[in-house]
Amino acid sequence: MNTVLSGIRSTGNLHLGNYFGALRNFVRMQEENKCFFFIADYHSLTTHPDPGSLHGNVKNVLTEYLAAGIDPEKSTIYIQSDVPEVCELYLLLNMHAYLGELSKTVSFKEKARKQPENVNAGLLTYPTLMAADILMHNADFVPVGKDQEQHLEMTRKFARRFNNMYQVEFFKEPNAYNFGQELIKIPGLDGSGKMGKSEGNCIYLKDEPKVIEKKVKRALTDQGPTVPNQEKPECIENLFTILRVVSTPEVVNHFEDKWNTCEIRYGDMKKQLAEDIIKVTSPIRERILEIENDDAYLHKVVTEGAEKARESAGKTLAGVREIMGFKPF
Ligand code: TRP
Repeated sequence: MNTVLSGIRSTGNLHLGNYFGALRNFVRMQEENKCFFFIADYHSLTTHPDPGSLHGNVKNVLTEYLAAGIDPEKSTIYIQSDVPEVCELYLLLNMHAYLGELSKTVSFKEKARKQPENVNAGLLTYPTLMAADILMHNADFVPVGKDQEQHLEMTRKFARRFNNMYQVEFFKEPNAYNFGQELIKIPGLDGSGKMGKSEGNCIYLKDEPKVIEKKVKRALTDQGPTVPNQEKPECIENLFTILRVVSTPEVVNHFEDKWNTCEIRYGDMKKQLAEDIIKVTSPIRERILEIENDDAYLHKVVTEGAEKARESAGKTLAGVREIMGFKPF
Protein backbone atom coordinates (compact mmCIF):
# COMPACT_ATOMS: atom_id res chain seq x y z
CA MET A 1 0.00 0.00 0.00
CA ASN A 2 1.31 3.44 -0.91
CA THR A 3 1.67 6.29 1.53
CA VAL A 4 0.16 9.56 0.34
CA LEU A 5 0.66 12.84 2.10
CA SER A 6 -1.48 15.85 1.48
CA GLY A 7 -0.70 19.26 2.94
CA ILE A 8 -3.43 21.82 3.27
CA ARG A 9 -2.85 25.53 3.59
CA SER A 10 -4.96 26.89 6.43
CA THR A 11 -6.46 29.92 4.81
CA GLY A 12 -10.09 30.66 4.13
CA ASN A 13 -13.15 28.56 3.46
CA LEU A 14 -13.35 25.85 0.84
CA HIS A 15 -15.21 26.52 -2.40
CA LEU A 16 -16.62 24.46 -5.26
CA GLY A 17 -13.29 24.65 -7.09
CA ASN A 18 -11.49 23.06 -4.12
CA TYR A 19 -14.18 20.42 -3.87
CA PHE A 20 -14.28 19.26 -7.47
CA GLY A 21 -10.60 19.97 -8.12
CA ALA A 22 -9.19 18.10 -5.14
CA LEU A 23 -11.31 17.25 -2.15
CA ARG A 24 -13.63 14.83 -3.92
CA ASN A 25 -10.57 12.96 -5.21
CA PHE A 26 -9.05 12.87 -1.73
CA VAL A 27 -12.11 11.09 -0.42
CA ARG A 28 -11.55 8.37 -3.02
CA MET A 29 -7.78 8.37 -2.52
CA GLN A 30 -8.09 7.40 1.14
CA GLU A 31 -9.83 4.14 0.18
CA GLU A 32 -6.76 2.77 -1.60
CA ASN A 33 -3.82 4.36 0.19
CA LYS A 34 -2.36 5.03 3.57
CA CYS A 35 -3.16 8.74 3.69
CA PHE A 36 -1.91 11.56 5.85
CA PHE A 37 -3.77 14.87 5.67
CA PHE A 38 -2.32 17.71 7.64
CA ILE A 39 -2.96 21.40 8.05
CA ALA A 40 0.16 23.43 7.38
CA ASP A 41 -0.21 26.07 10.07
CA TYR A 42 3.55 26.66 10.42
CA HIS A 43 3.69 27.44 6.73
CA SER A 44 0.96 30.00 7.15
CA LEU A 45 3.21 32.01 9.50
CA THR A 46 5.39 33.16 6.61
CA THR A 47 2.83 35.87 5.93
CA HIS A 48 2.44 36.86 9.61
CA PRO A 49 -1.26 36.21 10.18
CA ASP A 50 -2.96 37.87 13.08
CA PRO A 51 -2.63 35.58 16.18
CA GLY A 52 -6.35 36.00 16.72
CA SER A 53 -7.16 34.35 13.42
CA LEU A 54 -4.65 31.47 13.38
CA HIS A 55 -6.69 28.97 15.37
CA GLY A 56 -9.95 29.84 13.64
CA ASN A 57 -8.39 29.30 10.23
CA VAL A 58 -7.11 25.88 11.23
CA LYS A 59 -10.47 24.93 12.70
CA ASN A 60 -12.26 25.98 9.52
CA VAL A 61 -10.14 23.89 7.25
CA LEU A 62 -10.22 20.92 9.59
CA THR A 63 -14.00 21.08 9.92
CA GLU A 64 -14.58 21.41 6.20
CA TYR A 65 -12.28 18.55 5.25
CA LEU A 66 -14.01 16.29 7.74
CA ALA A 67 -17.42 17.41 6.53
CA ALA A 68 -16.48 16.71 2.92
CA GLY A 69 -15.61 13.11 3.75
CA ILE A 70 -12.02 12.88 4.92
CA ASP A 71 -12.39 10.06 7.39
CA PRO A 72 -10.22 9.86 10.53
CA GLU A 73 -10.94 6.12 10.72
CA LYS A 74 -9.25 5.61 7.36
CA SER A 75 -6.68 8.41 7.28
CA THR A 76 -4.41 10.27 9.65
CA ILE A 77 -5.51 13.88 10.03
CA TYR A 78 -3.30 16.18 12.02
CA ILE A 79 -2.15 19.73 12.56
CA GLN A 80 1.45 20.40 11.60
CA SER A 81 2.24 22.29 14.81
CA ASP A 82 1.12 19.30 16.89
CA VAL A 83 4.07 17.32 15.55
CA PRO A 84 7.32 18.84 16.86
CA GLU A 85 9.38 16.23 14.99
CA VAL A 86 8.80 18.24 11.83
CA CYS A 87 10.75 21.16 13.29
CA GLU A 88 13.77 19.04 14.07
CA LEU A 89 13.80 17.44 10.64
CA TYR A 90 13.38 20.90 9.11
CA LEU A 91 16.42 22.11 11.02
CA LEU A 92 18.52 19.15 9.96
CA LEU A 93 17.45 19.40 6.32
CA ASN A 94 18.23 23.11 6.33
CA MET A 95 21.91 22.24 6.86
CA HIS A 96 21.90 20.73 3.40
CA ALA A 97 19.77 23.33 1.65
CA TYR A 98 21.59 26.19 -0.02
CA LEU A 99 20.85 29.86 -0.30
CA GLY A 100 21.34 29.77 -4.07
CA GLU A 101 18.67 27.17 -4.74
CA LEU A 102 16.24 28.45 -2.10
CA SER A 103 16.37 32.03 -3.30
CA LYS A 104 15.76 30.88 -6.88
CA THR A 105 12.47 29.17 -6.02
CA VAL A 106 9.60 30.69 -7.97
CA SER A 107 7.29 30.92 -4.94
CA PHE A 108 10.01 32.68 -2.93
CA LYS A 109 10.67 35.25 -5.63
CA GLU A 110 6.96 35.90 -5.99
CA LYS A 111 6.41 36.34 -2.24
CA ALA A 112 9.50 38.54 -1.94
CA ARG A 113 8.03 40.77 -4.61
CA LYS A 114 4.60 40.83 -2.99
CA GLN A 115 5.78 41.46 0.57
CA PRO A 116 9.13 43.27 0.25
CA GLU A 117 8.83 44.45 3.86
CA ASN A 118 8.71 40.86 5.13
CA VAL A 119 11.19 38.65 3.27
CA ASN A 120 11.79 36.41 6.27
CA ALA A 121 13.91 33.26 6.61
CA GLY A 122 10.77 31.15 6.91
CA LEU A 123 9.78 32.27 3.45
CA LEU A 124 13.20 31.36 2.12
CA THR A 125 13.16 27.92 3.72
CA TYR A 126 9.51 27.17 2.95
CA PRO A 127 10.63 24.32 0.65
CA THR A 128 12.71 22.63 3.37
CA LEU A 129 9.79 22.71 5.80
CA MET A 130 7.63 21.19 3.10
CA ALA A 131 10.30 18.57 2.41
CA ALA A 132 10.34 17.74 6.13
CA ASP A 133 6.54 17.29 6.05
CA ILE A 134 6.82 14.84 3.19
CA LEU A 135 10.01 12.94 4.02
CA MET A 136 9.03 12.51 7.66
CA HIS A 137 6.37 9.98 6.62
CA ASN A 138 8.33 8.51 3.74
CA ALA A 139 5.49 9.43 1.44
CA ASP A 140 5.40 7.74 -1.95
CA PHE A 141 2.99 10.26 -3.40
CA VAL A 142 1.93 13.84 -2.84
CA PRO A 143 -1.05 15.42 -4.59
CA VAL A 144 0.17 18.80 -5.76
CA GLY A 145 -1.18 21.58 -7.88
CA LYS A 146 0.92 23.32 -10.53
CA ASP A 147 2.16 25.93 -8.07
CA GLN A 148 3.63 23.25 -5.79
CA GLU A 149 5.44 21.15 -8.40
CA GLN A 150 8.74 22.92 -7.91
CA HIS A 151 8.54 22.34 -4.16
CA LEU A 152 8.04 18.63 -4.72
CA GLU A 153 10.99 18.60 -7.12
CA MET A 154 13.11 20.22 -4.41
CA THR A 155 11.96 17.61 -1.90
CA ARG A 156 13.20 14.94 -4.30
CA LYS A 157 16.50 16.76 -4.60
CA PHE A 158 16.89 17.09 -0.82
CA ALA A 159 16.13 13.38 -0.39
CA ARG A 160 18.64 12.41 -3.07
CA ARG A 161 21.27 14.74 -1.65
CA PHE A 162 20.89 13.32 1.86
CA ASN A 163 21.20 9.76 0.57
CA ASN A 164 24.33 10.62 -1.46
CA MET A 165 25.92 12.67 1.27
CA TYR A 166 25.71 9.86 3.83
CA GLN A 167 25.90 7.00 1.36
CA VAL A 168 22.57 5.54 2.43
CA GLU A 169 19.29 4.53 0.83
CA PHE A 170 17.21 6.23 3.47
CA PHE A 171 14.74 8.68 1.98
CA LYS A 172 12.39 7.77 -0.83
CA GLU A 173 11.91 10.28 -3.62
CA PRO A 174 8.21 11.16 -3.56
CA ASN A 175 6.19 11.45 -6.76
CA ALA A 176 3.20 13.58 -7.66
CA TYR A 177 -0.06 11.77 -7.05
CA ASN A 178 -1.93 11.36 -10.28
CA PHE A 179 -5.70 11.25 -10.13
CA GLY A 180 -5.95 9.36 -13.40
CA GLN A 181 -8.49 11.42 -15.24
CA GLU A 182 -8.09 15.02 -16.28
CA LEU A 183 -8.42 17.27 -13.24
CA ILE A 184 -11.62 19.27 -13.19
CA LYS A 185 -11.12 22.99 -13.08
CA ILE A 186 -14.13 24.96 -11.92
CA PRO A 187 -14.39 28.36 -13.60
CA GLY A 188 -15.51 31.56 -11.91
CA LEU A 189 -19.01 33.01 -12.13
CA ASP A 190 -17.61 36.27 -13.42
CA GLY A 191 -16.61 34.94 -16.82
CA SER A 192 -13.05 34.25 -15.67
CA GLY A 193 -11.13 31.01 -16.03
CA LYS A 194 -10.88 29.93 -12.44
CA MET A 195 -12.88 29.97 -9.25
CA GLY A 196 -10.58 31.33 -6.57
CA LYS A 197 -10.70 33.05 -3.22
CA SER A 198 -8.53 35.94 -4.33
CA GLU A 199 -10.67 36.38 -7.44
CA GLY A 200 -13.73 36.85 -5.20
CA ASN A 201 -15.93 34.75 -7.48
CA CYS A 202 -16.49 31.70 -5.31
CA ILE A 203 -19.37 29.58 -4.19
CA TYR A 204 -18.34 28.27 -0.79
CA LEU A 205 -19.31 24.85 0.52
CA LYS A 206 -20.64 26.67 3.55
CA ASP A 207 -22.79 29.17 1.62
CA GLU A 208 -26.46 29.10 2.51
CA PRO A 209 -28.81 28.04 -0.32
CA LYS A 210 -30.11 31.60 -0.59
CA VAL A 211 -26.61 32.95 -1.02
CA ILE A 212 -25.87 30.38 -3.72
CA GLU A 213 -29.05 31.32 -5.58
CA LYS A 214 -28.07 34.96 -5.45
CA LYS A 215 -24.51 34.35 -6.63
CA VAL A 216 -25.64 32.19 -9.53
CA LYS A 217 -28.32 34.65 -10.51
CA ARG A 218 -25.67 37.37 -10.70
CA ALA A 219 -23.29 35.27 -12.84
CA LEU A 220 -22.14 36.99 -15.99
CA THR A 221 -24.02 36.11 -19.20
CA ASP A 222 -24.26 37.60 -22.67
CA GLN A 223 -27.16 38.69 -24.89
CA GLY A 224 -27.86 35.10 -25.94
CA PRO A 225 -27.24 33.15 -29.14
CA THR A 226 -28.53 34.52 -32.44
CA VAL A 227 -27.33 31.82 -34.84
CA PRO A 228 -28.09 28.10 -34.33
CA ASN A 229 -25.20 25.97 -33.03
CA GLN A 230 -22.96 28.94 -32.52
CA GLU A 231 -19.92 28.73 -30.32
CA LYS A 232 -20.41 29.78 -26.71
CA PRO A 233 -18.58 32.76 -25.25
CA GLU A 234 -16.44 32.05 -22.21
CA CYS A 235 -18.94 33.20 -19.59
CA ILE A 236 -21.61 30.83 -20.96
CA GLU A 237 -19.20 27.95 -21.44
CA ASN A 238 -18.28 28.44 -17.77
CA LEU A 239 -21.87 27.97 -16.64
CA PHE A 240 -22.08 24.80 -18.73
CA THR A 241 -18.83 23.53 -17.21
CA ILE A 242 -20.27 23.81 -13.72
CA LEU A 243 -23.58 22.34 -14.89
CA ARG A 244 -21.73 19.30 -16.25
CA VAL A 245 -20.26 18.49 -12.83
CA VAL A 246 -23.33 19.09 -10.69
CA SER A 247 -26.28 18.15 -12.94
CA THR A 248 -27.50 15.02 -14.71
CA PRO A 249 -26.64 14.44 -18.40
CA GLU A 250 -30.34 14.96 -19.23
CA VAL A 251 -30.28 18.43 -17.75
CA VAL A 252 -27.06 19.29 -19.55
CA ASN A 253 -28.43 18.01 -22.88
CA HIS A 254 -31.63 19.95 -22.37
CA PHE A 255 -29.79 23.25 -22.07
CA GLU A 256 -27.33 22.37 -24.84
CA ASP A 257 -30.32 21.83 -27.14
CA LYS A 258 -31.86 25.11 -26.05
CA TRP A 259 -28.59 26.87 -26.75
CA ASN A 260 -28.26 25.28 -30.17
CA THR A 261 -31.78 26.31 -31.18
CA CYS A 262 -31.32 29.81 -29.71
CA GLU A 263 -34.16 29.23 -27.28
CA ILE A 264 -32.09 29.24 -24.13
CA ARG A 265 -33.35 31.29 -21.21
CA TYR A 266 -30.48 32.02 -18.88
CA GLY A 267 -32.89 32.58 -15.99
CA ASP A 268 -34.10 28.97 -16.29
CA MET A 269 -30.62 27.61 -16.62
CA LYS A 270 -29.39 29.53 -13.61
CA LYS A 271 -32.31 28.35 -11.52
CA GLN A 272 -31.49 24.75 -12.37
CA LEU A 273 -27.78 25.31 -11.84
CA ALA A 274 -28.28 26.84 -8.40
CA GLU A 275 -30.60 23.99 -7.42
CA ASP A 276 -28.07 21.35 -8.46
CA ILE A 277 -25.16 23.12 -6.78
CA ILE A 278 -27.22 23.25 -3.59
CA LYS A 279 -27.83 19.51 -3.88
CA VAL A 280 -24.07 18.97 -3.75
CA THR A 281 -23.22 21.51 -1.05
CA SER A 282 -26.19 21.12 1.31
CA PRO A 283 -25.22 17.83 2.94
CA ILE A 284 -21.63 19.09 3.34
CA ARG A 285 -22.84 22.37 4.79
CA GLU A 286 -25.03 20.54 7.29
CA ARG A 287 -22.10 18.42 8.43
CA ILE A 288 -19.91 21.52 8.73
CA LEU A 289 -22.46 23.10 11.06
CA GLU A 290 -22.64 19.93 13.12
CA ILE A 291 -18.90 19.36 13.37
CA GLU A 292 -17.90 22.94 14.13
CA ASN A 293 -19.93 22.80 17.31
CA ASP A 294 -18.60 19.43 18.36
CA ASP A 295 -15.43 20.39 20.22
CA ALA A 296 -15.05 16.94 21.75
CA TYR A 297 -15.04 15.33 18.31
CA LEU A 298 -12.54 17.82 16.87
CA HIS A 299 -10.31 17.36 19.91
CA LYS A 300 -10.40 13.59 19.49
CA VAL A 301 -9.59 13.75 15.78
CA VAL A 302 -6.55 15.99 16.15
CA THR A 303 -5.25 14.25 19.27
CA GLU A 304 -5.39 10.82 17.71
CA GLY A 305 -4.07 12.22 14.44
CA ALA A 306 -1.08 13.82 16.13
CA GLU A 307 -0.32 10.60 17.96
CA LYS A 308 -0.24 8.58 14.74
CA ALA A 309 1.74 11.25 12.90
CA ARG A 310 4.29 11.52 15.69
CA GLU A 311 4.82 7.79 15.73
CA SER A 312 5.59 7.77 12.02
CA ALA A 313 7.71 10.93 12.19
CA GLY A 314 9.61 9.74 15.27
CA LYS A 315 10.82 6.63 13.46
CA THR A 316 12.14 8.65 10.54
CA LEU A 317 13.79 11.19 12.77
CA ALA A 318 15.55 8.52 14.83
CA GLY A 319 16.98 7.13 11.59
CA VAL A 320 18.12 10.56 10.42
CA ARG A 321 19.79 11.35 13.72
CA GLU A 322 21.66 8.07 13.71
CA ILE A 323 22.82 8.52 10.11
CA MET A 324 24.04 12.04 10.84
CA GLY A 325 26.07 10.82 13.81
CA PHE A 326 24.05 11.73 16.88
CA LYS A 327 24.64 9.15 19.61
CA PRO A 328 23.26 8.72 23.09
CA PHE A 329 25.72 8.84 25.98
N1 TRP B 1 2.79 24.46 0.26
C1 TRP B 1 1.52 23.80 0.19
C2 TRP B 1 0.47 24.80 -0.39
O1 TRP B 1 0.70 25.99 -0.34
C3 TRP B 1 1.05 23.31 1.52
C4 TRP B 1 1.99 22.28 2.04
C5 TRP B 1 2.85 22.40 3.09
C6 TRP B 1 2.17 20.98 1.53
N2 TRP B 1 3.53 21.24 3.27
C7 TRP B 1 3.15 20.35 2.34
C8 TRP B 1 1.60 20.27 0.47
C9 TRP B 1 3.56 19.03 2.10
C10 TRP B 1 2.02 18.97 0.23
C11 TRP B 1 2.98 18.36 1.04
O2 TRP B 1 -0.54 24.38 -0.87
